[in-house]
Amino acid sequence: MTRVKQQKIQEHYDSVAGTYDDHYDHLTRGRPYHNHLSDHLIKALPQNGDLLDIGCGTALFVEKYLRNGGTATGLDISGKMLSKARERCPGCTFVAGNGEALPFQDQSFDAISSLLVFSYVKSPETMLAEAYRVLRPGGSIAVCTLGKKLITRGIPALYHFSEKVKFQHVVMKNFGERYYNEEEMTRLFSEAGFDDISVKWCSFAHIDMIDPLFSLASKLEPFVEKRVPQLAFNIFVSAKKRR
Ligand SMILES: C[S@@+](CC[C@H](N)C(=O)[O-])C[C@H]1O[C@@H](n2cnc3c(N)ncnc32)[C@H](O)[C@@H]1O
Repeated sequence: MTRVKQQKIQEHYDSVAGTYDDHYDHLTRGRPYHNHLSDHLIKALPQNGDLLDIGCGTALFVEKYLRNGGTATGLDISGKMLSKARERCPGCTFVAGNGEALPFQDQSFDAISSLLVFSYVKSPETMLAEAYRVLRPGGSIAVCTLGKKLITRGIPALYHFSEKVKFQHVVMKNFGERYYNEEEMTRLFSEAGFDDISVKWCSFAHIDMIDPLFSLASKLEPFVEKRVPQLAFNIFVSAKKRR
């Protein structure tokens, strides 16, 4: 099994914090891509709640969650990403830390989100146990990350290669990331104690496609997600803590 390199992840995100939003908040692809994923999370989480966003990055999701009311706390291992998050959402609390050891008391939040982070986690069991602990009874969790599929199998090799040739990219580094399929996600969430587990595939338009291809894939996205989810590449899980 691959080993997730957490220090490398932290150093990498510290180094790309200044350009992260050029990629994920970019008008033609970044923002539509990120918004599409965020929409799945927003629909699964209660409005007006106290949210914890694990791996909040520059607070793109936190900002979106706040638009419907509620409060939000962001946690990230990268101090530089957190500085950007504080600039974006000055009224929120941002805490440096690891999603696998949450520095919060039991039953502190109504909702937990984690977007494009789960594949970086060393022990998903530990992160989910921590999420369960800090959620209030009946609270909701929504996680979205690149999933394990035939089309994503080559990603570790691609990231390894891009690192060897010193290709600079906001996410393409060999961090020993791990990907999960529906069965694995269902088992992980169920063993952590969650109920009402729903696992879906989403995304057909990828942020790194060229513009015309991205716009075509975006148009086809609703059809793909509904009728041919085998072609979608992000995996989205929502669940609830027992009351
Ligand atoms: C691809 S970015 C996603 C950021 C944000 N969720 C978004 O949607 O824009 C991944 C983020 O996860 C953070 N991260 C990775 N592993 C983490 C961990 N174990 N605990 C907390 N944050 C982590 C990174 O520092 C980085 O900010």
